[in-house]
Amino acid sequence: MTDIEQLQTELLNKNPRKILKYALENYEKVAISFSGAEDVALVDMALKIRSDIQIFSLDTGRLHPETYEFIEKVRNHYNIDIELLTPEHNTLEALVKEKGLFSFYEDGHQECCGIRKVAPLKRKLANLDAWITGQRKDQSLDTRQDLPEIQIDTAFSSAENQLIKFNPLANQSSAQIWDYIEAYQVPFNPLHQQGFISIGCQPCTRAVLPNQHERAGRWWWEDATKKECGLHSQNK
Ligand code: ADX
Ligand code: SF4
Repeated sequence: MTDIEQLQTELLNKNPRKILKYALENYEKVAISFSGAEDVALVDMALKIRSDIQIFSLDTGRLHPETYEFIEKVRNHYNIDIELLTPEHNTLEALVKEKGLFSFYEDGHQECCGIRKVAPLKRKLANLDAWITGQRKDQSLDTRQDLPEIQIDTAFSSAENQLIKFNPLANQSSAQIWDYIEAYQVPFNPLHQQGFISIGCQPCTRAVLPNQHERAGRWWWEDATKKECGLHSQNK
């Protein structure tokens, strides 16, 4: 079992490449969780370390057309597989039958996210020892300020399997990520050119005004402290 405290000390404030390298070289069953947004930088960095990495996206069925096209573009650009995980159809059909397609505007996003994102993620994580996310502290003043580079994923670990979660971009700023994308000519989602900073599902994401925080464009009808969908429920 990993000595998490020692590893946290070792990786504290290290650059993203060092953290990624550690994750990719020390865990066989490890995968990158790619949202189809600017976390493409993580994919680019990882492929420079190891060409056979596992990458998956949660296909909620509600992503923007641009995001689907972008995921396909990334797949072709790097000549890689991106596993698309879909929701379990019985539960999804039951939700839509009972509450329609936009229940999240009425009773919050947790139920829909639970079915479309969290359950497929849980299914995937059950077969991994570690996963890698593109989360950053600067993405949320309300919920991501304490984000560590590495943590035990208490939300998805089981009695038999301690799951490690790596957040190699934790200390990077948005500006640094965009410098990387520009410097290395990394392809990016065209929605970023239309005022979208943070990108999630189409009905739950909107463009933000100049100087608005990026998270303001996500689940904008809800309180800022609730803007975590269950993928990263440890965030406070
Ligand atoms: S979310 O929890 O609010 O939706 P956010 O959009 O900030 O997350 O993205 C942070 C990280 O969560 C991404 O870099 C990625 O690792 C993971 N993530 C978010 N959405 C998805 C998705 N649809 N598929 C795969 N990973 C995702
Ligand atoms: Fe459903 Fe919106 Fe969550 Fe996507 S972000 S899974 S559409 S509630």
